[in-house]
Amino acid sequence: MDDSVSADRALRLIRGGSTLRWEGDFQNARQLLAALGRRTRRVQQLNSLLIATSDYEIRLRRAPDVRHACRQAYGPPTGDRLIPLRELLGVIGAHQLRERGIYLPALNARIHPHYGVFAPTRSEYVDLIAAEPVPPTTKVAFDIGTGTGVLAAVLVRRGIQKVVATDNNPRAVACAQENLQGTVEVLETDLYPPGQADLIVCNPPWVSKRPRTLLDTAVFDEDSRMLRGLLYGVREHLNPGGEAWLIMGLRSRDELLTMFREAGLRVVGRSSAVPTHRRARADETTDLWRLCPSDAAPFVEEA
Ligand SMILES: C[S@@+](CC[C@H](N)C(=O)[O-])C[C@H]1O[C@@H](n2cnc3c(N)ncnc32)[C@H](O)[C@@H]1O
Repeated sequence: MDDSVSADRALRLIRGGSTLRWEGDFQNARQLLAALGRRTRRVQQLNSLLIATSDYEIRLRRAPDVRHACRQAYGPPTGDRLIPLRELLGVIGAHQLRERGIYLPALNARIHPHYGVFAPTRSEYVDLIAAEPVPPTTKVAFDIGTGTGVLAAVLVRRGIQKVVATDNNPRAVACAQENLQGTVEVLETDLYPPGQADLIVCNPPWVSKRPRTLLDTAVFDEDSRMLRGLLYGVREHLNPGGEAWLIMGLRSRDELLTMFREAGLRVVGRSSAVPTHRRARADETTDLWRLCPSDAAPFVEEA
């Protein structure tokens, strides 16, 4: 398939079950993909435009050098490989973001996300964690589902002596280790590390839906498995007098309050931020819920 094909014809072929191996100019392939994107939203169809790579090298006119970006995303090269152009553009974008990093005012530093790891491009939840008063006896904190390690980094910056971070995605663990530079112990595990903490922080995937791709696992949580696991583990992993801080958006309040109650937790506070991103709904908020076991004595902030 080359530069002479129209978007309408390409889409007809794709709908007929073909995959299209691109032989023309790379930049024209990008334009074709954009034109296809205006005609269909089906990811499977958009992924049918393929680019041939040989040890991650693209031998097409005006093709960028993607070898480094592909090695970061897929590991060492394994010879000839056809990669959907749409995926390849994601790999290139992720590489650029990793190199550039995301500046976070709460850290006065940059965080460098890896491919396949949740990137803190919206920072309002980071600011919530940076501003909330930490109970004064806090010595040990857990950051569950640490992603890039951004919230663990905020906890370290806030002076908490020992922070342990976990994630079940090995890419996230490698990414957090790189960002945190040995200031935090980072473990690859499901939910909690062994032991107890005075503060448990978690920004879980917000949407209760089945993840279909690697990238989905940071935002989709099928049947709220992670959220429930996190909440049900709080009582076992929290030291007396401690708090769990849950970052959450998009979910109904009633659904959350029911889950808290079922997990034997009560709400001791809530702070909210209004998301500033373009697609935020008018009434959307991002919330930091402060929770403690329902039978624990309330923490009273000193005047
Ligand atoms: C929304 S991202 C948040 C990442 C990071 N804490 C932040 O705030 O930017 C959710 C993270 O939870 C991780 N995760 C999902 N299920 C998990 C589980 N069962 N145990 C540990 N981590 C999990 C995902 O891999 C992802 O990194």
